[in-house]
Amino acid sequence: MRMSASLPLAVLALAFVSAAQPQPAQAQAVAQTPPMGWNSWNYFFDKVDDKGVRAAADQLVATGMKDAGYVYVNIDDTWEGQRDANGVLHTNSKFPDMKALADYVHSKGLKIGIYSSPGPKTCGGYEGSLGHEVQDAQLYASWGIDYLKYDLCSFIPAVMEKQAPNDKAAQMRLMHAAYDKMDKALKATGRPIVFSLCQYGWDSPWEWAPALGGNLWRTTGDIEPKWDRIYAILSQQAGLESYAGPGHWNDPDMLEVGNGKLTPAENRAHFSMWAMLAAPLLAGNDLPNMKPETKAILTNRDVIAIDQDSMGKQGARIYSDGEVEVWARHLTGGAMAVAVLNAGSDRYSTHPFHLNLGKLGLSGPQKAKDLWVGKQMELTDNMPLEIASHDVLMVRIDAPK
Ligand code: GLA
Repeated sequence: MRMSASLPLAVLALAFVSAAQPQPAQAQAVAQTPPMGWNSWNYFFDKVDDKGVRAAADQLVATGMKDAGYVYVNIDDTWEGQRDANGVLHTNSKFPDMKALADYVHSKGLKIGIYSSPGPKTCGGYEGSLGHEVQDAQLYASWGIDYLKYDLCSFIPAVMEKQAPNDKAAQMRLMHAAYDKMDKALKATGRPIVFSLCQYGWDSPWEWAPALGGNLWRTTGDIEPKWDRIYAILSQQAGLESYAGPGHWNDPDMLEVGNGKLTPAENRAHFSMWAMLAAPLLAGNDLPNMKPETKAILTNRDVIAIDQDSMGKQGARIYSDGEVEVWARHLTGGAMAVAVLNAGSDRYSTHPFHLNLGKLGLSGPQKAKDLWVGKQMELTDNMPLEIASHDVLMVRIDAPK
């Protein structure tokens, strides 16, 4: 609400009284770097249960992923049961005791996340938070929840389309208000809870989500473990770089690394580009049955360090040549990350891609580290690069010239 000079005295008096009331302790800042962890949806979908979440937590520790920075264990849709006569939401039979599960996850030095919708139902048709926002936020806090993904879903037909038929702008205002309401409910608990907006990029959330307390906001519809979908999402991130920063991130959706039929190159390229984007790194694979090559990608410390760079400056697409794209990201201490992505087919020595350093603001040979080979190399102007289909060259330049 905008303050107006003609605000009635009663309202001013009310504002004064509420300012004098004890306020919940200022929640400590969360998501100062893009959140890292695991989420149940991309592999388990509705098959997630208490046992599977405990197993994921165990594996985050056993595989070294926790030490590499993955701390959130996020339960997505399908945990919800029914509300009782007092409106209190209960878990369904897959999650017999959410508090005990949260305690277990915390005992491993990890954090736990949960999922809901501002609508009456979630996307999976389970109980949503409409009309119970404060009650649900208090419930999450009482369980020790550290992260909430709040997914628009049935709020669209049940509230937006019903209350404002044929008025898109009014529908969007209803959507903003719904996210604002849950943000206030979460903040009122006094518990630091990461607030993740999931509304598929509608109405440019990067413009308004930070002001409503969003720590991250989905920028697109759902990801799938297919190169074309991953690349389509990547393409939609170009131009959004100025909106991200510590505490507020563009979310191009959770990782598919290790899922479906993605090739090693595609897994590597997907992970590299999400790091260039300062995207949340939420692994979405079957951790207990992870292949060594998947683990090697997810735990590449050099690539993770790009994603987690404390300056929080998202990378940008600098130029492209056919289907080869060059992205760059500025890092703390004047360092720079560069990713050369071949989104199309192979480019062989007959017609390799030639790297133009000038377009990156660089001049002369640059000492760099190839983050997938793990070795120092030299970048020179116009150097020919052979990059396989859907693969990437990702380097870190510590002292760009
Ligand atoms: C939507 C979201 C997904 C997932 C499902 C769960 O599709 O975008 O990430 O949370 O709902 O039902």
